[in-house]
Amino acid sequence: MADLRVDICGLAFPNPVLPAAGPPGRDGRALLACAEGGAGGLVAKTISTRPAQVPTPNMAEIPHGFLNCELWSELPPEQWLEHEYALARTAGLPLIVSLGYTAQDIAELAPRVRPFADALELSTHYIGEDAQPMVEAIRAAKAAVDVPVFVKLSPLGREMRRAARLAQQAGADGIAAINSFGPCMAIDIETGLPLMGSHEGHGWLSGPALKPLAVRCIYEIAQEVDLPILGVGGVSRGEDAIEMVMAGAWAVQVCTAAILRGPQVYGRIASEIGRWLDEHGYASLADIRGLAHRQAAARPFRTQAVPPRLDVGRCTGCRLCEQSCPLGAIRVVDRTARLNLTLCSGCGLCVTRCRPRALLAC
Ligand SMILES: Cc1cc2nc3c(=O)[nH]c(=O)nc-3n(C[C@H](O)[C@H](O)[C@H](O)COP(=O)(O)O)c2cc1C
Repeated sequence: MADLRVDICGLAFPNPVLPAAGPPGRDGRALLACAEGGAGGLVAKTISTRPAQVPTPNMAEIPHGFLNCELWSELPPEQWLEHEYALARTAGLPLIVSLGYTAQDIAELAPRVRPFADALELSTHYIGEDAQPMVEAIRAAKAAVDVPVFVKLSPLGREMRRAARLAQQAGADGIAAINSFGPCMAIDIETGLPLMGSHEGHGWLSGPALKPLAVRCIYEIAQEVDLPILGVGGVSRGEDAIEMVMAGAWAVQVCTAAILRGPQVYGRIASEIGRWLDEHGYASLADIRGLAHRQAAARPFRTQAVPPRLDVGRCTGCRLCEQSCPLGAIRVVDRTARLNLTLCSGCGLCVTRCRPRALLAC
């Protein structure tokens, strides 16, 4: 069985699947449920110097994703300090305490949470696109505590590389990427009401729809800085985590999938990662970390058509490839796909639609 343990800044995680800050870590009891569900470490809901006034409704499942406008913890910091963190620590897993938002907030909170925190994670979600407040928040945390400080980046623009570089220069020990994306909006067409009860009906997108954005951000951060990355955004299966690790993540965090499927999802994803590594002959996640960078570097940019390779033995004749080939270059004859190499433009769509993986990119 592959080794799932991961060491990040001296924190020993038995497996790389953690909750992301949010409802799965809304209080001490919820964090214990994550541990029982198989999480490799714990991340508590973001707290700030005052409790959040959270609008309702504030969560909605939408096709391929999820919207929320939940802000930070509605619990006062005193309750976390007197009760919730100590309860979470009884799980015996590394506990990452999430704090927001300004340098002043962090300077006030960091020393108070330090007795419970194995590391801090700073949310930058409500301090705008300008990097300076993030830099000041990191400096305030580093001045206040001696535990690792991770900064969590929000996908506000295309400036992931710059944000990561500035975070490293300010002293961050690691990066969590990414927070939810937005503002977005969805409307219940039976009532005409926006699904979110926030100002202007704005909500923030998470879940499967977010994953390609998260993977791109992780990939760019890994190119820019030499810091451990906690990948977050749309992970709901072991394969999602594998993809993030190939982009450069050291571990993953999961929020939406745990909201929808319960905290057992952590152990399930960890088992799926282990099974995938075993089946593909890897001994640990370190063997595949950053693999996409090496593979992409080895593939030359090309514009000529390179048709996929067809493994006839795997083809089930399901016709998914035939239905969606824009050029009619695939026909299923006698329950087997046949490629017309003259018509194929090498667009690659059929490779991604082929469920039994009979079509492979060259
Ligand atoms: C209901 C909800 C509440 C969240 N609250 C927080 C929070 O307090 N702090 C934070 O940094 N991120 C928060 N997030 C963002 C998640 O931690 C995570 O970055 C995002 O949802 C993408 O991951 P996912 O697709 O696994 O949910 C929240 C997300 C949701 C859905």
